[in-house]
Amino acid sequence: MIFRQLFDSVSSTYSYVLASRHGGEALIIDPVLDKVERYLKLMEELDLRLVKAVDTHLHADHITGLGALRDRTHCVTVMGEQSKVDVVSMRIADGDRLTIEGLSLDVLYTPGHTDDSYSFLIGDRVFTGDTLLIRGTGRTDFQNGDSRAQYESLQRLLRLPDETLVFPAHDYKGDTVSTIGEERRFNPRLQVPDADEYSALMAALNLPNPKMMDVAVPANMQQGLHQEEVARRGWAYSAEAARGLVGKADVALIDLREKAERERDGAIPGSLHAPYADLQDNIDEGGLIHELALSGKTIVFYCAFGERSAMAVQAAQDRGIASARHIEGGMAAWRTTEGGALGQGAAGYRPTRSS
Ligand SMILES: [Fe+2]
Repeated sequence: MIFRQLFDSVSSTYSYVLASRHGGEALIIDPVLDKVERYLKLMEELDLRLVKAVDTHLHADHITGLGALRDRTHCVTVMGEQSKVDVVSMRIADGDRLTIEGLSLDVLYTPGHTDDSYSFLIGDRVFTGDTLLIRGTGRTDFQNGDSRAQYESLQRLLRLPDETLVFPAHDYKGDTVSTIGEERRFNPRLQVPDADEYSALMAALNLPNPKMMDVAVPANMQQGLHQEEVARRGWAYSAEAARGLVGKADVALIDLREKAERERDGAIPGSLHAPYADLQDNIDEGGLIHELALSGKTIVFYCAFGERSAMAVQAAQDRGIASARHIEGGMAAWRTTEGGALGQGAAGYRPTRSS
């Protein structure tokens, strides 16, 4: 496994690059906007191709690199299903697997620092975000934090084998890695007998808000641009309008999601499965989508929320497929048109930005 730990000294954030080899697919956890050039240079140097950028939670202390990395690499942006961030093109839940070629991370929902906090486990290492830090834990006093939920999340992490390496999202003292066993014994926040005492300990911290909070949180909530731009160019169908396309002989509905997302959330009847990861091959000459377009079909992409499909429309248009369209808001919007709720907010679906 290719593994790099990168540091942003301004926010004391650790970001992690993971890859195996073969085609060079890579994933990054908790990228920082100011360091995007550095990540891209590293990708180039190691001959890697960024396919997924993941945030463990909505950060309050730095601006995420997710939006910029998506713009530069067309990678899939990933957060938990609780996330309201509009940049997110793929949402994951507890028990899911986060995969790239040759690597698979177990997805653990570990709320408490925020209600959208996740940890990721692969082999002998766990990426704990701000849930478990080295000799500390993430604060629980804002962003829907909940010290009791965090206590339970920490107990869950502490059940991992003692030798599991702990890679947190931050360290303010210069430590880079710890182990579960080490944290169980020496982390002062973990020397409490129950959730009540943990909660009391967290309540007594009285921390000032992070310096960047007023800037970072709103910026991190609104990173999505593609869908507006694609709609402006007339390349978008509302979910309601897309219902009229099902079964039409001159339309090819293309599902860009991964297999696990289709199994979890269902698919539009009659649609073809062509995962986003294979998009370039599929729109190139001789590829499935290229051939469908040549045969005169309108290509209508969709995904979970419309972010991946918006990028796919742009890529297909750039490749000369003038009929490429997408379903705005993706399956999430499609589902709001089901069961008599036809038209209700379908065209204008956006993840909530106000909370
Ligand atoms: Fe955080």
